[in-house]
Amino acid sequence: MATAPRIIATFLLLSVCTFPAASAQRAETNYDESKVPSYTLPDPLIAEDGQVIDTASLWWEKRRPEILELFEREVYGRSPGRPESMEFQVTSVDDQALESTAIRKEVSVLFTGEPDGPKMDVLIYQPAAAEGPVPVFLGLNFFGNHTIRDDPGITLSQQWMRPNRELGIVDNRATEASRGANASRWAVEDILAAGYALATIYCGDLDPDFDDGFQNGVHPLFYRPGQQRPDPDQWGTIAAWAWGLSRAVDYFETDPQLDAERVAVMGHSRLGKTALWAGAVDPRFAIVISNNSGCGGAALSRRRFGETVARINTSFPHWFCENFKKYNDNEDQLPVDQHQLIALIAPRPVYVASASEDRWADPRGEFLAALHAEPVYQLLGKPGLGTDQMPPVNTPVGHTIGYHLREGRHAVESYDWQQYLNFANKHFFGK
Ligand code: GCU
Repeated sequence: MATAPRIIATFLLLSVCTFPAASAQRAETNYDESKVPSYTLPDPLIAEDGQVIDTASLWWEKRRPEILELFEREVYGRSPGRPESMEFQVTSVDDQALESTAIRKEVSVLFTGEPDGPKMDVLIYQPAAAEGPVPVFLGLNFFGNHTIRDDPGITLSQQWMRPNRELGIVDNRATEASRGANASRWAVEDILAAGYALATIYCGDLDPDFDDGFQNGVHPLFYRPGQQRPDPDQWGTIAAWAWGLSRAVDYFETDPQLDAERVAVMGHSRLGKTALWAGAVDPRFAIVISNNSGCGGAALSRRRFGETVARINTSFPHWFCENFKKYNDNEDQLPVDQHQLIALIAPRPVYVASASEDRWADPRGEFLAALHAEPVYQLLGKPGLGTDQMPPVNTPVGHTIGYHLREGRHAVESYDWQQYLNFANKHFFGK
């Protein structure tokens, strides 16, 4: 199999010189391509026992479960399944939303079946004119459902929020001023006009984004008697957020207006890491979209460019499972790298988007992860990325794996949404 030598050769070309991988002192953030250390990626098509994976059945039966297990145990942590007593409660429907162009629904997912118990609230906009079930873009949001659109009909979130005065968050709570505060990140009109529904959930409904030792959020719902926090191989916050995305699909499966077989999960940044993990663990996500997800998302950890494993585990100790901290300044010992996360999504379409000024997220590392997932797509009969050249800005490339480098900063912009809509149109409808 030519995969391993090709991977190494590509990196030798990209790595002019090396610097020590692990040093007692934490390295400064590296933004210099010539200082990316040389490294060898784990080959997605060579099993732990050295067996070459050269058939689809070996991938499905042997290698994929092996890689999934490694990501669960060492990176994101293992998640529970669907709670048995979970129930759905439609809390509002307005069929004349957005000047009668949309139906707006709010649905509470009651994790214990109790209306006063732990829950997440899903906001759904769907095209008013749709006949039959519509495909869905699903994504978590950072500051509450009411921030995606200045629409007084959306319930204002009561949950804890990270501080952000500019977005109208005061004393860790949303205020009326935060309505529509993140609207620029959500191309609601374009999504609806293209015939898709948009569903979103505040990530803090699942787990507020701070390190409290996993006392709030959904984790305690699943503790064994006496358990105080997740075991080293059990879910962190990103896995809990991803778990919530799967619970939204559980709801879609019950709603005849939504096409649960055509759900595209999309996320930005920490929520892009989450979208990738959700897509890896739950095959019901038919398309997976990572927007500027960076370290612990689409970017290769071994490159140590921009944010590193040690940095992310220090700033956000709750995002990954405890075992992931073993790889702080120790990336070469990781049994996986992020190209294999993308490979877990194969043969389903996956889109990775970078932004040219977003060096912290390592755009080249995101491109390379997409590239090195390709052998798995090819093994499963799909064309993958179709190029080994990182494209110039604003030039989308790819087939079953899509990629673009948008000009500009770390954000979700209408340019990004336009590419995601094109990608979904192509893969869902052959348009
Ligand atoms: C920080 C963090 C990133 C993350 C980003 C975000 O910059 O270091 O890993 O992607 O926040 O979620 O906006």
